[in-house]
Amino acid sequence: MQTVRSSEELARAVAELRQSGTLALVPTMGALHAGHIALIDEAKRRAERVVATIFVNPTQFNDKDDLARYPRQEPEDVAKLEAAGCDLLWAPSVDDIYPAGFATSVHVSGISDRWEGEHRPGHFDGVATVVAKLLLSVHPDIAFFGEKDFQQLAVIRRMATDLNLGVEIAGVSTVRDPDGLALSSRNALLSPSDREKAGGLLSTLADLGGAITRGATVGPAIERAIENLIRNGFEPVDYVAYVDGGTLEPLDEYQEGGRLIAAAFLGGVRLIDNISV
Ligand code: PAJ
Repeated sequence: MQTVRSSEELARAVAELRQSGTLALVPTMGALHAGHIALIDEAKRRAERVVATIFVNPTQFNDKDDLARYPRQEPEDVAKLEAAGCDLLWAPSVDDIYPAGFATSVHVSGISDRWEGEHRPGHFDGVATVVAKLLLSVHPDIAFFGEKDFQQLAVIRRMATDLNLGVEIAGVSTVRDPDGLALSSRNALLSPSDREKAGGLLSTLADLGGAITRGATVGPAIERAIENLIRNGFEPVDYVAYVDGGTLEPLDEYQEGGRLIAAAFLGGVRLIDNISV
């Protein structure tokens, strides 16, 4: 696997890969785990050649401390990508992506504004802008994103459609630890005792999903789920919501294609999760 940094090197490497057929892109911020590798595996199933990116995108961090403590481990990541059969890694510097004078921002209105968007101001503008740049630089046939970040996937789908980016946006199921905790680079920041409690986020969502499917009134059922999370050490709870899986608009009763989404802190670490209901 070749690693490139500048957009000139990238263009040359991509032109060569293109000759072998269809191209997939898997954007990441590194600190790779089995969730990221599931995206590479799916990309390999669907395309002849796979390009991964590692770029800790400063503009999507609304919290400076979160950016500062974001894990960076490129040598380990390279080994994992090589083992997974990735063909090319693009690991640009901040200056490669945002050279002096960079002044463009992509804002996907509506779908970006609620939930994560409300609690992390500017986050989705940073995500949409960098993902647009990655897609336009690589021109893949398909790009892969995890359902773990469900709203991000929906925002990117909207953007790719609205801007005629000519790329299929494919979602990949969430990879979890045996207790149900969705794999995330931030899980390493949990204390051992909080790590033991962390499976409570999924089990609370699963119970809530069961209640909604059986016809419970959504508002009070969500209130009970939030109380349950707080009792189990999740504080504060940013939101728990039952939404349309396409538009992310809230639903007040069971609907096919509905999604439960949640974000809550556990010992200062912000966890997000979602399930189909
Ligand atoms: P990052 O958090 O590194 O995630 C990269 C991709 O891996 C995203 O599509 C994310 O949804 C997916 N992913 C993370 N954990 C997963 C899990 N447990 N199961 C399945 N997929 C998982 O998301 C980002 O980076 C950035 O916002 C990015 C899209 C790269 C733009 O900067």
